[in-house]
Amino acid sequence: MSNITLHTLTKLKQSGEKFSVLTAYDATFAHIISSVGVEMILVGDSLGMVLQGHDSTLPVTLDEMVYHTTAVARGNKGSMIMADLPFMSYATDEQCMHSAGKLMQAGAHIIKIEGGAWLDRSIRLLADRGVPVCAHLGLTPQAVNKLGGYRVQGKDSASAQQMIEDARHLEQAGASMILLECVPSILGAEISRNVDIPVIGIGAGPDTDAQVLVMHDMLGITPGRRPRFSRNFMEGASSIEDAFRQYHAAVKDGSFPNQSEGF
Ligand code: KIV
Repeated sequence: MSNITLHTLTKLKQSGEKFSVLTAYDATFAHIISSVGVEMILVGDSLGMVLQGHDSTLPVTLDEMVYHTTAVARGNKGSMIMADLPFMSYATDEQCMHSAGKLMQAGAHIIKIEGGAWLDRSIRLLADRGVPVCAHLGLTPQAVNKLGGYRVQGKDSASAQQMIEDARHLEQAGASMILLECVPSILGAEISRNVDIPVIGIGAGPDTDAQVLVMHDMLGITPGRRPRFSRNFMEGASSIEDAFRQYHAAVKDGSFPNQSEGF
């Protein structure tokens, strides 16, 4: 497989072909995930929960994100690598550029930041300096204390309309991708139609341009209840590699997620 780039993924959106994304935090899983053809690996700050055992992503530090991004980059075989800027590492212009620079030097090809229209300045600063940015909208876990829990966002028409406008605004500011978490399926479809950049969904219904899952959720090993929008791909799989392959195939042919795996 030749290396996946932003250009590849933008072309896939234009041609209507879906692409798949999975989280990984180390070289071994990055190797397997990229070898089965998953187009993008997300080094998510979800590692604070699934690797470190915290109850939120807030304790994750920039140094930890750099460490895991470096490991993923070593194992990767051609997927595009996206890495999260952790909580409060992009609160000022200087912090934002410094933190993004560290993750890009660690091997990321694009960085992800959480928020709304107010991200426009950071996105512009980074994009102007050659750093592609994915804007994470909807349920933004770094703001869990402000949101009052891990709740579906954009349920009423005013907040849905606001999210559509934010997505358009951030595309104008220079965002290269949007990630939508936990929004009604109908809103996931609407935002994907309204922007020209790829929209990756998690709990955002079947009609986004791409899907992402936390690896531990789709392997069925997350402690507690699996999120409703995830699926255990180990059921019926012959190995972890086979589960990744089946996930990739199900995203590609549109059979994941189904209607009941959305909101
Ligand atoms: O950190 C992460 O893994 C994420 C996904 C939940 C999209 O941002």
